[in-house]
Amino acid sequence: MKTILVTGGAGFIGSAVVRQFINDTDSRVVNVDKLTYAGNLQSLASVASSPRYAFEQVDICEAAEVARVFREHQPDAVMHLAAESHVDRSITGPAAFIQTNIVGTCVLLEAARTYWNSLDGDKKAGFRFHHISTDEVYGSLGDSGFFTEQTRYEPNSPYSASKASSDHLVRAWHHTYGFPVVTTNCSNNYGPYHFPEKLIPLMILNACNGKPLPIYGKGDNIRDWLYVDDHARALRLVLEKGKLGETYNIGGWNEKTNLEVVDAICAILDELRPQGAPHASLKTYVQDRPGHDKRYAIDASKIERDLGWKPQETFETGLRKTVEWYLSNDDWVQGVSSGEYQNWIQNQYGS
Ligand code: NAD
Ligand code: DAU
Repeated sequence: MKTILVTGGAGFIGSAVVRQFINDTDSRVVNVDKLTYAGNLQSLASVASSPRYAFEQVDICEAAEVARVFREHQPDAVMHLAAESHVDRSITGPAAFIQTNIVGTCVLLEAARTYWNSLDGDKKAGFRFHHISTDEVYGSLGDSGFFTEQTRYEPNSPYSASKASSDHLVRAWHHTYGFPVVTTNCSNNYGPYHFPEKLIPLMILNACNGKPLPIYGKGDNIRDWLYVDDHARALRLVLEKGKLGETYNIGGWNEKTNLEVVDAICAILDELRPQGAPHASLKTYVQDRPGHDKRYAIDASKIERDLGWKPQETFETGLRKTVEWYLSNDDWVQGVSSGEYQNWIQNQYGS
């Protein structure tokens, strides 16, 4: 049985990864998460009682604590998802992004390298550090073209600059120390358990509550959407079969303007909640995000060709599942919206 150390396992994508490992494999998972505003243990309620799941409330910037976790749990692999992830927050307060995304990644790399150096035999040969990153490191596309693994890094926001820095650290640890790494750069995820500061869950919940749907600028910026469970499956595949030192772009060939996304959500809600129709009448154009990247689009040929990955959901099937999930998981939504889950964490862990 393998032990996978997942950082950020209480977040949106991390929790999907943890749920898949517990439900679909015989691996043990150690979830290392500081539980910032974005970390929510309620997202792991369905797997938390598994004997193969362990939780460590640890800040990845705390070197001694991170080293203790490696010593105590002796992982076979690390999947590093912990990060500050919201672009708008990085614009108003970049410091936390520099701290967690850059300093935290460096602390984690050093703890993992020290631990790896202490291993021998198959355990050492099989160890790998999987860094989970974003397509935003590549900057912004014009009307045509795609991000490939060869695209030059041109990060434009404090968030993407901090993620680009972390990618470079990971690359350097491989080049300099021979540390066994693999990096993935994924497009925009959506799906259940997504914190409602991000476009899709914010629009679903605002529309349900009759609140304005704030569209930045003209709503013509383009994002490339991938259902979160498809991303989690891709991550597990890359961890298992990816070539050390390589990067893999992950995306579902699903480019949409923000207006198309919002209109699609409104159309599903008109059908499922006709009493609020037409939800599109709530669309409100607001001031644009500073430095707003125009278009992202991932060329996913490499992971498809080399590892045989394909997404299972189309945007239409995934979006409908997502809207239905938010409509039928009011407890989670209320907990997140009211901050109740932070109290719950305090009761559970006394911190
Ligand atoms: P999220 O904000 O939902 O979750 C981040 C998690 O990291 C939270 O549980 C939080 O508590 C934890 N965390 C934050 N700072 C920490 C620290 N110092 N120590 C320990 N834990 C800490 O983020 P997400 O959307 O799930 O993204 C996960 C990863 O995937 C990030 O690295 C992000 O850059 C990357 N990514 C996200 C997307 C996307 O569309 N959401 C796309 C591509 C890549
Ligand atoms: O591309 C991958 C990235 O996708 C990840 O690395 C980030 O962690 C993740 O947050 C996401 O970043 P975006 O900035 O693309 O996602 P967000 O949901 O914040 O915004 C999506 C688009 O919608 C973007 O063009 C801005 C726009 N938007 C967003 C919000 C929150 C609006 O028009 N209105 C809004 O209220």
